[in-house]
Order: sequence, then C-alpha cells, then structure tokens
Amino acid sequence: MSRTSTEERPRVDVVGTRADGRAALYEATFRSLQAEPKELPAVWLYDERGSRLYEEITRLPAYYLPRRESEVLRARAQEIARRTKATTLAELGAGSANNTRVLLDALGAAGALERFVPLDVSGKTLQASAETIAAAYPRIAVQAIVGDFEHDLGLLPRGGRRLIAFLGSTIGNLYPDQRARLLGALADELSPGDSLLIGIDLVKDSARLEEAYNDPGGVTEAFVRNALTAANRELEATFDQRQFAYVARWDPANEWMDIGFHARETHTVSVRQLGLELEFEEAEPLRVEISSKFRRERFEREVARAGLAVASWWTDRAGDFAVALVLPTSTRSRTRFHRPREQSAARS
Ligand SMILES: C[S@@+](CC[C@H](N)C(=O)[O-])C[C@H]1O[C@@H](n2cnc3c(N)ncnc32)[C@H](O)[C@@H]1O
Repeated sequence: MSRTSTEERPRVDVVGTRADGRAALYEATFRSLQAEPKELPAVWLYDERGSRLYEEITRLPAYYLPRRESEVLRARAQEIARRTKATTLAELGAGSANNTRVLLDALGAAGALERFVPLDVSGKTLQASAETIAAAYPRIAVQAIVGDFEHDLGLLPRGGRRLIAFLGSTIGNLYPDQRARLLGALADELSPGDSLLIGIDLVKDSARLEEAYNDPGGVTEAFVRNALTAANRELEATFDQRQFAYVARWDPANEWMDIGFHARETHTVSVRQLGLELEFEEAEPLRVEISSKFRRERFEREVARAGLAVASWWTDRAGDFAVALVLPTSTRSRTRFHRPREQSAARS
C-alpha cells in the first residue's frame, strides 16, 4: 500500500464485530472472576483513561522499563534494520508506540520500510498514535488494526519482509500457557525472511521491582483501580474501591509481579452483565495483572518450544531489560498450533 498524500488519514481496520470481541471478553471475564485467585482480566486496564495513565507510568522515575528498552533499541536499531531489511514493521500492543520510533527511524533510513502496522485492543489510543506516526513518517503507509493479539494475528498483512515487534514487556503480562500459544501462533505466522523483536523485563532485586509498581504518587494504583471502574461501567458491576486495598508484590516462585487488590473485609460484589455474585473473604486477593520477569535461559527455552530461535539477545548497560531478535527455525519440531482465530478466547 502506498500513500498518495501526506494529508491522508491512516486507515484503521476494525477487526471482528463489536459483538464478537465483547462476547470473548465477557466469557474470559466470567471465567477469570471465578478462578482461584479471582481475577479481572488485564484487558480491562486499557480503556481511554487507562491508556493515558499507562503513559504517565512510563514517565515515572522508578518505572525503569521503557527507558531501558529505549537504550537497547537506540544502540541496536541500525543493526536490526540491517539484519531484518524489513519492508513492514508490525507492532503488537503498540499503545502510543513511543519506543517504536527508534525502529521506524532506523528502518526508514535503511530505505526498505514501506508500512507500519500497529495492532492494539485500545482503539482510541491506537487511532491517535497511528495519526501521530503517519504525520511524522509521511513516506510510509500506516495501517492500524484494532484487535487482540491473542486472536487476530491472521489479520496482519502478508508479503515482503515483516518485522513483528512486541515491545514494552507486554509479553510478561501473559501467563506461561498464553505465551506458549502466542509464540506458537507467531511461529505459524512467520514466513522465511520475517522476524520478531521482543522486549523483556529481567529478574532483578525484588525491592526494585516492587518499587516500580508502587510509586509514591499512586499513578500505578490509579491505573489498576481504573480496571474496577471500567468493569463497573461496562459490566454493571459493584466493585467498591474503598473495599479493596491495592497490592503489587513480587512472587518469587513464579517470578512475576502479582498486581491487584486484597479485599479489606468480607463482602459481595455483583456483576450484573455476567450474572455473577462474587463473595470476597477478608484479605482475599483479586488479581488484575501479572508482570513476569525473565531469565535468558527460560526465555530461550520457551521460544525454542514454539519452533523459534533467539538470534540475538541485547541488554541495556545495567542488565535490567533485554530485547531479543527471534527468527523462525528451518526445522520446526514443536506441535503445530491452531490458527489464532480458532483458539479459546479465555485466559486459563
Ligand atoms: C504494557 S503496554 C505497552 C505499550 C507499548 N508497546 C509500550 O511499550 O509503551 C501494553 C499495550 O498492549 C495493549 N494490549 C493489552 N492486551 C492486548 C491484547 N490482548 N491485544 C492487543 N493489545 C493488547 C494495551 O492496550 C497496551 O497498549
């Protein structure tokens, strides 16, 4: 696709019907709220207000992740451009695509880049960032997809050499079985010449990790509380913010940050749209998000199980964050995965 005018607005493809997306999200939420521990899926975090709060988080001094990732990308972008020779840069969970600009600059300078395809569940944020990128990079086409990377990979345009970026440590928000399905689906999606670039936060001192999710100004808490507000609005739920204390703790057994709430006292929450009455015991957790932290060996193992290989592993100078360039292997020994559209919508 080539742009005919710099005034042209970016094309925003809306994937699926509203009813489809909604039904899958409601089903996932119905299951998660009855799981052990109870969980409100993290996708509820990213309405318009949530996406704005996330932007604020990325500027917090203790939230080192975006700055560390940017350091790695700035150091390696030219090499990435040289090695991938990408004609399409696609980005899963693109959000405001701030760090992506480093890649767009390097790929643009290398001369092969024709198209940027950001994909995100948050339609308004995506539209805004697609327009900003389209204005800043008039030589490339911007084709945004409002969709769910767990189900909609098949909608990424094919052809040319594609670099699929998955930045911001978003992969850490998925459970191991979800990661295995997504990496498997990506392996199915990649053609020879395509590549993946994944931003990964690394295991480190637990005090630093907990500080990153417990800022003194309460921006992260407001972001997580916004999921309750969104559920109250969309699901006619009765989560009472005063009944839930914010908790973000390091779980050393699973090597993830466990982010959500503890009920302050025994009480009931109804979720009318889902026909649920939820009993909370005093101190019972309600999880909203995990943020897994990785070690190189574990990440390489997970990637290999999907039939992919880590071709390069780059970290920032402090060793806080890694960016991995991942390629399809010629011999794929893993079990074939279903196409993304056929997978179950729910978290397990
Ligand atoms: C941690 S933020 C990272 C944003 C951006 N990549 C960055 O590095 O600043 C996660 C992003 O993924 C999006 N997201 C979360 N779950 C998603 C899903 N299942 N499908 C598509 N986008 C998703 C959110 O809307 C949000 O923009």
